[in-house]
Amino acid sequence: MKLPDAVRVVEVGPRDGLQNEQALIDTAIKVELIARLGQAGLKTIEATSFVSPQWVPQMADSRVVIGAIDRLPGVAYPVLTPNLKGFEAAVAAGAREVAVFGAASESFSRKNINCSITESLTRFEPLLAAARQAGIRVRGYVSCALGCPYEGPIQPAAVAEVAGALFEMGCYEISLGDTIGVGTPEAARRLIQTVSARVPLGRLAGHYHDTYGMALANIYASLQCGVTVFDASVAGLGGCPYAKGASGNVATEDVLYLLNGLGIATGVDLDALVACSWWISGILGRPPGSKVARAKANHQTPALS
Ligand code: HMG
Ligand code: MG
Repeated sequence: MKLPDAVRVVEVGPRDGLQNEQALIDTAIKVELIARLGQAGLKTIEATSFVSPQWVPQMADSRVVIGAIDRLPGVAYPVLTPNLKGFEAAVAAGAREVAVFGAASESFSRKNINCSITESLTRFEPLLAAARQAGIRVRGYVSCALGCPYEGPIQPAAVAEVAGALFEMGCYEISLGDTIGVGTPEAARRLIQTVSARVPLGRLAGHYHDTYGMALANIYASLQCGVTVFDASVAGLGGCPYAKGASGNVATEDVLYLLNGLGIATGVDLDALVACSWWISGILGRPPGSKVARAKANHQTPALS
């Protein structure tokens, strides 16, 4: 299949990236991170989440973060909302786009949002209805799309079931989460083929964590299947607090290097992103998890783009 001319990169660093940091990060740093990502050209920046602060203390300042963002024209700043309470708080704080997050694994659903898959879908229904009334777009996530930390392999049909339900409920896009980064390209291909029977390809996104170093390969396989939206996290930050051992998302810089090399437009400035990656990594006290950021910093490897 011909590769797409353009791809939308959904930056999830401020949310998926930072949610797993143990030490509380200053709200001002979070706001500056979002600003720098916007200046680098990212058009969708998942900013924070309106979840229980008991469950994810790092996101307890979500109201302040969303209120403090200096919004750039044409940039969306979605936030995670697990239920109507989170949705109402997000909207009251100024959020104009949200995301619900379900799972294809019963065990992960219970660990992450304290309910079964069926209960989660029932919980999302009033949220979607309220969002429709308020004219707010809702994205849907399906976690454990390529494997579960508690149940192991997950059947693509199980993912398709949840993805289809979220799409039919009104989610404009379904992001397939390889929460623990165990997927490989053929598995990603089978997943997309199965799920696209329920959700049009143009409404699917790939959300690959990079635990086993397979995320870029999975993105390439997904591109070949016709997927044109990918989630990524600056510096490869992150993980999920309810999926122990999982590493961060694929680094946004590495995704851009791949897409630039393929001649696929993103509108993002790689050098600005690398600078942002080193900046946030410096604050967190470690080098970026991105190979591209490290290569570009020491200038030892001549870059092709
Ligand atoms: P629960 O304990 O079952 O909730 O948690 P509850 O409805 O029984 O309420 C208990 C208390 O929480 C009450 O407070 C509620 O008001 C409060 P109390 O009366 O005891 O003072 N509460 C809330 N507070 C703030 N915001 C809310 C909210 N809802 C209830 N929205 C709940 C259920 C869903 C809230 C909890 O399990 C939770 O917050 N889970 C979130 C976990 C999370 O954020 N995980 C990481 C994000 S998902 C992810 O990373 C995967 C993804 O990246 C894709 C991938 O990689 O696969 C998206
Ligand atoms: Mg994730």
